Amino acid sequence: AQPSQKERIAALRAALGPNLTIMGHHYQHESVIRHTDLRGDSLELARRVADTDAASIVFCGVYFMAESAALLARPGQKVYLPEHSANCVMAQMAPAERVDAVLRALSADGRKVVPLAYVNTSLAVKAVVGRHGGAVCTSANARTMLEWTRKQGDAVLFLPDKNLARNTANLLGIPDDKRHMLDVRAANFGADVLTDEARRAELLIWPGCCAIHARFNLRQMETARAAHPGCRIVVHPECSPEVVNAADAAGSTTTIIRFTDEAPDGSTVIIGTEINLVQRLARQHAGRLTVLPLLESACSHMARVTEPKLLHTLEGVAAGTEAPVTVPMDLHEPAKAALQRMLDACA
Ligand code: 13P
Ligand code: SF4
Repeated sequence: AQPSQKERIAALRAALGPNLTIMGHHYQHESVIRHTDLRGDSLELARRVADTDAASIVFCGVYFMAESAALLARPGQKVYLPEHSANCVMAQMAPAERVDAVLRALSADGRKVVPLAYVNTSLAVKAVVGRHGGAVCTSANARTMLEWTRKQGDAVLFLPDKNLARNTANLLGIPDDKRHMLDVRAANFGADVLTDEARRAELLIWPGCCAIHARFNLRQMETARAAHPGCRIVVHPECSPEVVNAADAAGSTTTIIRFTDEAPDGSTVIIGTEINLVQRLARQHAGRLTVLPLLESACSHMARVTEPKLLHTLEGVAAGTEAPVTVPMDLHEPAKAALQRMLDACA
């Protein structure tokens, strides 16, 4: 019989041996994640790149994650993404030229506005942020990084996720009248953004969001609590502040996993995040817990990385024909500075 895709991937992994590390984000489908050496949330995966000796890193996730891995890779290491069109819808809501223009306009009155970019941004945006003295954060360290960024200037521009911005501002007690949501869609987005409200604000918020997490709402939570009395609800901080405030806990994918691992035997955990992670936790805890999605919400871009594409990439890596993710020379230094500020502040 012909070997299955799973067997062919296993054979290629064995042939490439220590020259290969396969990394995968928790939102990857089971058929892909079962082949990974390392799995994690955005922060863990970014940190682990530097510890990896393998010459080839195959990254199963979306483009911005592979770009960050390529940025943190050692000289000679190459990062491959099985599907280059796997992007992040939220990252696409903040184009680099617009971020740069908005930052310049916000600083036109002499105030120092320091950007804090969620890791879900393109490398070009991270380079803009690095050049403006700013840093990167993930959902796991947004609080620490917002505190850090506030100390660097007069105001912070948080981008692109308005929900993570507002949820983190709530944790730090930044009052509503010190926050301002920018209208970056304005036709003349340069000068237009520097309104009186923007001048007064300590936290300027880019109006992006994640469509997958924006689907969760209070009605679903009420329905879940009525159907499963005593259940506990945990959600990702890309959900709206109303949903985060009504949940029992909120945090990065790692926090969600820990919350579920620590739930008492026999209890019900309802999770508001990407469906592949929820289904994996439901399988892992079957017989001990009832784990249910708040709503089945899937990231279609994460799903573009499939087992056949992973196989194809590994064949290309073994044959030396696969194109790695590249980091343009002029972006390398400023983007790395922004990422490194996060790694140093959260060491
Ligand atoms: P984490 O930082 O929790 O891994 O989340 C990444 C992401 O894309 C969430 O939608
Ligand atoms: Fe981007 Fe949302 Fe998909 Fe995460 S779940 S990669 S934030 S679109």
